[in-house]
Amino acid sequence: MTSPDEHGAHHLVWGEIGDAHFPVLIGPSQIDRLGQLWDERLEGAAALLISDAAVAAYAGRARDVLVSRGIRVVDVVVPSGEGSKTLAELERICRIAAQNGIRRADAVVAVGGGVVGDLAGFVAASYQRGIRLVHLPTTLLAMVDSAVGGKTGVDLPEAKNYVGAIWQPEFVVMDTDSLATLPARELSCGFAEVIKYGLLNSYEMFAHVEAWPAPLDPAADGFVALIRDCVVHKLNVVGQDERETGLRASLNLGHTVGHGIEAAAGYGRYHHGEAISLGLLAALRVAHETIGAALEWRDRTLQILARHGLPTQLASDVSTAAILEAMQRDKKASASSFNMVFVQEPGAVLLRQDPPRDVVIAAIEELR
Ligand code: NAD
Ligand code: GLY
Repeated sequence: MTSPDEHGAHHLVWGEIGDAHFPVLIGPSQIDRLGQLWDERLEGAAALLISDAAVAAYAGRARDVLVSRGIRVVDVVVPSGEGSKTLAELERICRIAAQNGIRRADAVVAVGGGVVGDLAGFVAASYQRGIRLVHLPTTLLAMVDSAVGGKTGVDLPEAKNYVGAIWQPEFVVMDTDSLATLPARELSCGFAEVIKYGLLNSYEMFAHVEAWPAPLDPAADGFVALIRDCVVHKLNVVGQDERETGLRASLNLGHTVGHGIEAAAGYGRYHHGEAISLGLLAALRVAHETIGAALEWRDRTLQILARHGLPTQLASDVSTAAILEAMQRDKKASASSFNMVFVQEPGAVLLRQDPPRDVVIAAIEELR
């Protein structure tokens, strides 16, 4: 599924998910290959280029590559942040597409973090009942998680990611040069997901992540390969269970409590990766109490999170009751129970419904 290309520092990974078979390029200067991939997979298509205000310069490079090949580009810029993942923004973009004659044979190009990827992906999935999609993720979190796997969607005022679709891209270009402008806080947030993959994948990957030096430097040797390892893990899981009937749920390690914290604290206070940091610690405590996982994994994970500036303590004003209520509202929960992912040790993962409530409460309280 993966092969280093002729330049060594770059990697080409293939996603095979359902009927979709798409390349994922990872490495520096990969934006230069956008035109070639377009010709190979989207020849003749116009581009609806959706980007985030914070990545205007990088989106400009993508536009230049396309325009220089004679490709028509319709630009849409969305405000930075979760507030753009709305049905109103979806409507605004679809109307711009319609007014500019974007047709079924054309393609959406998503340039930005997970917010743009989820929103633009849902535009692609729904506009004219579905047009083609290209992801150009510009955050570490989007590279290792949201730009592969096909989940797209927007939030409702009532809950996050409540309206959406699964929609796979034609190709994904992860140009690690784009990470040069990403604030350190956002890099760390992406690293919380990298730590998650270490726990899910194997002891070797966990130890590799554990040894990763702080502060994070996207240009450091091995960083591209680290992203590739996460992408390969995710594609492998999603390739077996695209619609999350079982195995895919393992990718939600740390997300049950994490999403609860994100919602209970008010969206934006804890960034997604920060909430996942706390959620991982809670999940590892619950795994210790319920399936006897060694506390060593929680302790070592806490050290990694702390070294990369991720939170390991929860603010006292975010109440446990509010977190539990938000966990119950999460769309992954059933009417009366919620699911959690347990790690016995790195690489040994179990999915469980309804862990004892008092154990979950104690695991959240321990974060104070
Ligand atoms: P984000 O898209 O909001 O990006 C974080 C911040 O970084 C924003 O302010 C953005 O403007 C800025 N930014 C992006 N790229 C930049 C760059 N290269 N340089 C400077 N600034 C840059 O957030 P995110 O963490 O990338 O993604 C979070 C979103 O992803 C959430 O909405 C979450 O629900 C979603 N998500 C989706 C999936 C999935 O499978 N679809 C998985 C995980 C998370
Ligand atoms: N981010 C979890 C998933 O894609 O399933």
